[in-house]
Amino acid sequence: MLRGRIVSFDIDRLINDFGGPAKLAEAYNLQFPQEPLSRAAIYKWRERGSIPLAQINRLAELASTSGKHFNIHHYSSQTGGVPPLAGNLRSEVKMSDRLYIFDTTLRDGEQSPGASMTRDEKIRIAKQLEKLGVDVIEAGFAAASPGDFEAIKAIAEVIKNSTVCSLSRANENDVRRAGEAIRPAAKGRIHTFIATSPIHMEKKLRMQPDQVIEAAVKAVKIAREYTDDVEFSAEDALRSEMDFLVRVFDAVIQAGATTINVPDTVGYAVPFATEQFFRELISRVPNSDKVIWSAHCHNDLGMAVANSLAAVRGGARQVECTINGLGERAGNASLEEVVMAVRTRQDIFNVHTRVDTPQIVPASKLVSQITGYPVQPNKAIVGANAFAHESGIHQDGVLKHRETYEIMRAEDVGWSANKLTLGKLSGRNAFRTRLKELGIEPATEEALNAAFARFKELADKKSEIFDEDLLALVGDGQSTEEAETYKLISLSTQTETGEQPVAEIVFSAHGEEKRSSSNGSGPVDATFKAIEVLVKSEAELQLYSVNAITSGTDSQGEVTVRLSKAGRVVNGQGADTDIIAASAKAYFSALNRLTHNQERAHPQV
Ligand code: KIV
Ligand code: ZN
Repeated sequence: MLRGRIVSFDIDRLINDFGGPAKLAEAYNLQFPQEPLSRAAIYKWRERGSIPLAQINRLAELASTSGKHFNIHHYSSQTGGVPPLAGNLRSEVKMSDRLYIFDTTLRDGEQSPGASMTRDEKIRIAKQLEKLGVDVIEAGFAAASPGDFEAIKAIAEVIKNSTVCSLSRANENDVRRAGEAIRPAAKGRIHTFIATSPIHMEKKLRMQPDQVIEAAVKAVKIAREYTDDVEFSAEDALRSEMDFLVRVFDAVIQAGATTINVPDTVGYAVPFATEQFFRELISRVPNSDKVIWSAHCHNDLGMAVANSLAAVRGGARQVECTINGLGERAGNASLEEVVMAVRTRQDIFNVHTRVDTPQIVPASKLVSQITGYPVQPNKAIVGANAFAHESGIHQDGVLKHRETYEIMRAEDVGWSANKLTLGKLSGRNAFRTRLKELGIEPATEEALNAAFARFKELADKKSEIFDEDLLALVGDGQSTEEAETYKLISLSTQTETGEQPVAEIVFSAHGEEKRSSSNGSGPVDATFKAIEVLVKSEAELQLYSVNAITSGTDSQGEVTVRLSKAGRVVNGQGADTDIIAASAKAYFSALNRLTHNQERAHPQV
């Protein structure tokens, strides 16, 4: 920490690193046309020996846009003693560092059972992540399948403000596939990894430590043929030997890696030790100040966020995380929790992100809807109850003075979006405009018309239509448009106390109308059995869950169905004010995915 020591600040070097006053002013004004910076102002920085804080933050943004690492501390050198600093220079030295947010929902998140996504679904999420302001979007694992490769490429083509990244194992084929996939990106990164823990090297890779270093170095060098932005991960780093990690990281930094990721692959780490681990590592690796240090924590012991934050305390300036904490096994660190923790506890972390926090809840809802992973109601930040005060004492306190029981504002994370938006009389234009505000643009006029027709149908059944309803309604349509092998036409169920429920269903299968009926232990069971009488999918039902999308008894029920067959797992979702119909839609959506997802299924990392 530089606070409270004498610091000399090399502004000339800083300006030169941006290409000199003319180039700096030009790039700055291109990126921040609203806050122009003249060359004269840059000369003033030199004269005064200081730069206003706001401009330092913009320089950091400017550097990150062009894929460079910028840390104000690199331009200061400590000389010890009591601080005779000019007022504003001191505030610059105290300035918070940028924390880079690397989102891996589309890669590690996709490794959750049944969460595999189509190319179009990935693009929708990527656009929302860009809007959210994440720095890096890990869009997939290019060598895993042609589908993954195409999805990364398509994302690289449309995303402009976030870096688009592909994962790759540390072998030539993987790295080159990643390099090809990110080629169209405005800013592209290759993330290559190899395991470094004794157990992984010996039992999984069957490689000697020196061979691992050799493979890592080779992979980084090949990656640098495609981009200057190369991340290296030492898989299972938190169970690796410190001396070996120091050797590996030293070698890959020399080979050209610009971000060093230290994953807790199996969720084994404990926060106080993680902080220490990062401190020691960063202090021992030569040239550690030339790279960004990154944490990637899994949640097997429920400590992924805590460990990520501990890593930040230990010097990490990138955190890898996912929306809703989605991810392999118990998941990854949750993006929303990390971002809000550093924002709410600036006093502890002294870092800032560029995340536009009101976009958090829309991102959470979109990911939940597309992957079929519901968000638990008591989940921090994005759970339906995260800002609900039940106890009378709390309600009284919040009404008198909000900060008595609230450390964040619901609207700051996007909960204000939960407002009444449209009604029965709203027209097509209002509908289209609201969808646009929610970041949804139906691909064609027909898709818009179909969604509008579903909206009118819903408005007949439900007096108030909320943003959540719209998201469900559009998502519902997209899954069926994507692969309409099976589609619900109509459903009738009979239930009576003491009698076996019966379901009669009409649906289309490969364009042909089918009718079927069955009884079951409940109306949902009867409906699923009626479908299976004809479809005979032989899939196993692994999960069935219902969520109310909004409050009130006229709320739409959103049903998630998880089916597995021959090692493939898929989630389907359906929404309707009638939860039995929603269940049938979800079942069909899962069947459709099972039929069409050969392309999505890919070997897990
Ligand atoms: O958990 C892990 O180690 C990973 C790496 C591939 C970064 O996901
Ligand atoms: Zn991981």
